[in-house]
Amino acid sequence: MTEQAQMLAKLDALLAQQHTILEQQRQLYRQTEALFALYSQLPLRAALPTMRGYAISPDFAKILLMHIQTYQPRLIVELGGGVSTLISGYMLQKHGDGRVLAVDQSAEFAAYAMHNIQQHQLATVAQVRHAPLQPITIHAETWQWYATDAFADVDAIDLLVIDGPPQYENPTPLVRYPALPVLYAKLAPGGFILMDDADRDDEQQIVARWLAEFDLKLVRDFSYETEKGAKLLQKI
Ligand SMILES: C[S@@+](CC[C@H](N)C(=O)[O-])C[C@H]1O[C@@H](n2cnc3c(N)ncnc32)[C@H](O)[C@@H]1O
Repeated sequence: MTEQAQMLAKLDALLAQQHTILEQQRQLYRQTEALFALYSQLPLRAALPTMRGYAISPDFAKILLMHIQTYQPRLIVELGGGVSTLISGYMLQKHGDGRVLAVDQSAEFAAYAMHNIQQHQLATVAQVRHAPLQPITIHAETWQWYATDAFADVDAIDLLVIDGPPQYENPTPLVRYPALPVLYAKLAPGGFILMDDADRDDEQQIVARWLAEFDLKLVRDFSYETEKGAKLLQKI
């Protein structure tokens, strides 16, 4: 490589680094802005647990909050509980109606989430059930998904929040696909599905597959406003 070509390659790398830093700054500002919305809108009785990483990010929490404010769902089901269950619980309590049921594949994490629910005094509206992952066969394919008896008493879901099972570091693709084959019939007419991590390849494929297989419409793609992507779908 000539000296000039080496200089140009270095310049390119520097510009890419600069672009990454600017994008990170933009994300940090968005998360801070969303946190202000959460702390001003929710009648919090304790601090919220740490967000981002495995937990939802403030931007997704704000979307969830605003959805509940607008549509006032009576039954929210969450696949993967945690901070999202607290946000749902506070919003349902604020409107004086409804309940949120979260399932979690980890007994330890379900217990931790229940501890947080009690600390925030939301146990009358929010519950996290332990639902271990079990094999489930759909269209001759076998998946590891939540034990379906956890949903035996569930009907007329107004909002299904999909944030589990964890895909991160899981070599099996499309782990969240079974959500609709299992729960579509339990969605209320016009019920909504809010999907976190929607920018990942797996989630994009899952949504494309659901749209082809179920009577659904994509209401909104929050890709631009969120760090992990989010999509709102609706049963039609
Ligand atoms: C994407 S998380 C769900 C987060 C949840 N909706 C929330 O708002 O906090 C999916 C699952 O990862 C697991 N999990 C959560 N935090 C974790 C951590 N720090 N390390 C490993 N697994 C974790 C939990 O079992 C959780 O249900």
